[in-house]
Amino acid sequence: MAKAPRRSSSGSRRRRTPGRAAAAPAAPADRFFRQMVTSMRNGVLAVRADGTMAVMNAEAYRIFDLTPQPGDMGRPFSEVLQAHPEAVRVVASGFQLSHPPNRAELRLKPSGRVIGYTLAQVRDDRGQLSGVSMYFKDLTRVEQLEERERLRDRLAALGEMAAAIAHELKNPLAGIEVMAGLLRRQVPESPDAQTAIADIINEAKLANAIVVEMLEFVRPIRLQLGKTSVPAMLHNAVTMAESKARRGDVSLAMRLAPGLPAVRGDEHQLTQVFTNLLTNALEALNGTGTITITARAASPHEGRPFAPDVPQRPEVAIEIADNGPGVPADVKERIFNPFFTTKPQGSGLGLAIVRKIVDAHDGQIDVSTPPQGGTRFRVILPLSGTPADSE
Ligand SMILES: Nc1ncnc2c1ncn2[C@@H]1O[C@H](COP(=O)(O)OP(=O)(O)OP(=O)(O)O)[C@@H](O)[C@H]1O
Ligand SMILES: [Mg+2]
Repeated sequence: MAKAPRRSSSGSRRRRTPGRAAAAPAAPADRFFRQMVTSMRNGVLAVRADGTMAVMNAEAYRIFDLTPQPGDMGRPFSEVLQAHPEAVRVVASGFQLSHPPNRAELRLKPSGRVIGYTLAQVRDDRGQLSGVSMYFKDLTRVEQLEERERLRDRLAALGEMAAAIAHELKNPLAGIEVMAGLLRRQVPESPDAQTAIADIINEAKLANAIVVEMLEFVRPIRLQLGKTSVPAMLHNAVTMAESKARRGDVSLAMRLAPGLPAVRGDEHQLTQVFTNLLTNALEALNGTGTITITARAASPHEGRPFAPDVPQRPEVAIEIADNGPGVPADVKERIFNPFFTTKPQGSGLGLAIVRKIVDAHDGQIDVSTPPQGGTRFRVILPLSGTPADSE
């Protein structure tokens, strides 16, 4: 491949004065290159031909979840990266392949992070292979954004269809209810007929409630942004959830960090988010258990992978945890999908609406299983920067 020019006199001069002569005047440039690599927003690492680590910048340490150790440079790279055998294999392949991969992807097993990388061979003036370098970027956030984009497209198509169906269903359902009411009056003396007609009316009402929920879900969201007090919003949500699901002996604990600033959001819609989450928790507990509501300042980049190009902003993390049966792993992936439900009377729109509202607030939501079991939903929302009652 690239060979050092043989015929030019400058080539031979370079060979007669190797290393040292060039090193002294090059020191500031050397420092500049070092600083450039260190401050790059890509992960960069380079390995010498003898397998020792020559360069590993801060972003590379971060992506690999490693802490820099004093002797890392000069140690075998397979030792420095021993927690990531898949990355060690990729770097080692750089010494063997005639065309190292450009723009390939790799999933780091310990963290599940996906990185996009390019491998390059480092060659000296004579064209000899003197090392391998790897440039990479954390793609997890890019992937997440793509996934959101896909979901949005799917929901838009589904939404149009659902809106059309819901619209068509509303009239016949109202008709059934009215006709059944009329019929009830015609057979006052038959208790069996009365019960059957009452059932028809109840079922029609339930179907209508689902249609109304569906229309609410597909309607484009419009936020009335304001300063929303977190404690007030959560207290309202508890009251609303209690009117929708049986509380029974469920004990409810609220742990709200003192002095939380207000959330910048639509109070009514955010209350619905927590009402739906609390209703689900009450339904999962079925009359016995504990719900814990926590609100605290979110730690930097909580809920999102670190992305240097995304500015940090103050956020609140609100968690609704229950000690119910939990969500099985295969179900967990689907619970935010519209119409996914495991309940006989459920419409499966509760969490889809929750996600839609959280997305519209540029927030994040995720679900996890705490070590002690149960289910924990975490919602991260941007703060307005000042307490709700300060203005
Ligand atoms: N706290 C929870 N514990 C266990 N499972 C849950 C919990 N929250 C949600 N789920 C699961 O997620 C599914 C979807 O929830 P979602 O709120 O979207 O719909 P739903 O509650 O079934 O119906 P809807 O809310 O429309 O009446 C539920 O059917 C249930 O299987
Ligand atoms: Mg629900």
